Amino acid sequence: MIILGIETSCDETAAAVVQKTESGVRILSNVVASSASLQAKYGGVIPEQAAREQIKAIIPVIEESLQASGHRQQDIDAIAVTYGPGLIGSLLVGVETAKVLATIWSKPLIPINHLIGHFYANWITDHLPGVPQAQHHLEGVIPKFPCLGLLVSGGHTDLVLFKNHGKYEYLGGTRDDAAGECFDKCARLLGLPYPGGSEIAKLATRGDASKFDLPRPMINSKDFDFSFSGLKTAVANLIHTFEVKKRSYTSKVKCDLAAAIEQAIVDVLVAKTIQAVQKYKIKQIIVAGGVAANQKLVSEFKKTINDKQSLQSDDLKRLTINLRIPSANLCTDNAAMIATAAIFNYNPVNPLTFQADPNLSLAY
Ligand code: KG4
Ligand code: ZN
Repeated sequence: MIILGIETSCDETAAAVVQKTESGVRILSNVVASSASLQAKYGGVIPEQAAREQIKAIIPVIEESLQASGHRQQDIDAIAVTYGPGLIGSLLVGVETAKVLATIWSKPLIPINHLIGHFYANWITDHLPGVPQAQHHLEGVIPKFPCLGLLVSGGHTDLVLFKNHGKYEYLGGTRDDAAGECFDKCARLLGLPYPGGSEIAKLATRGDASKFDLPRPMINSKDFDFSFSGLKTAVANLIHTFEVKKRSYTSKVKCDLAAAIEQAIVDVLVAKTIQAVQKYKIKQIIVAGGVAANQKLVSEFKKTINDKQSLQSDDLKRLTINLRIPSANLCTDNAAMIATAAIFNYNPVNPLTFQADPNLSLAY
């Protein structure tokens, strides 16, 4: 089965062709055009502008992905498209394009929840040689159910218990800012460009996290909810204090603060995920979303899992936990994950009545 995926939920216009093989899912092409550098001028995404950029990019991106895959429209078995959540103007560009293509090419149309799509980057196994944007996975083997999913993106931070394809239980999520949003807002406070997560990560490699004692909100709460707005406020207050006391705000201080921010966010994400693993006795963790591209997150997960001493339950000490994290370029928004999700959740809809849903969520 060969699927053309389309993703336009925010400021990336993406199209990809993937193929179901005997051993997994192969990326045949994966094209992403981003207006992030344009959005960076304004410190964040301006929805109207993102939608206009989507309109300019959508047809060239789809054409390029088909051409790069070595297949033509008649070889495609179905079209998958992100239908929410996201910015309505951006979503409409992908959804309406997919509806038109499905109708004129007479192909089944598979709608995919963007958040579920992120998790399916973990089911991608390989790619055609030379396909840009498709390196091998960083961590782990193909996930087995049940698995505990942590989604960490610019708009979402969610813990989900997957029992099978299309069958999951929502465990908790952020009550305010998402982890990626916290990275982005703290980066802005540090005077770094948007999107801020990778910028903070870069500075953090030269910093000492122990120089600042930042809060780890809700790290010991009994539920699986998160909260990151207090961390951002703590960073704002710290920077303000520096300015008021006229203490020198050197680039070393900036690196230390970046490292402390990264460490605080990562500590909460890892601790909560491990708490859920313990409670539900799960052997498989899957991580997804743009923040999963963070190398500190990957290394802390590995360290915590390997360090049996940090796990309190005896049951868990005997469990081997598998960690699966996609390669960095499949963590951030792409259409390969959307096409892969459609392979495992093949539920075609009527293109004439189907609509985008900007408020779609995982909680129900
Ligand atoms: O999944 P994604 O590409 O888009 C959404 O669906 O939101 O995630 C984007 C988020 C941004 O907040 C960005 O700052 C963050 O992912 N991000 C990172 C890294 N790369 C991207 N955060 C921390 N470390 C990174 N290396
Ligand atoms: Zn996303």
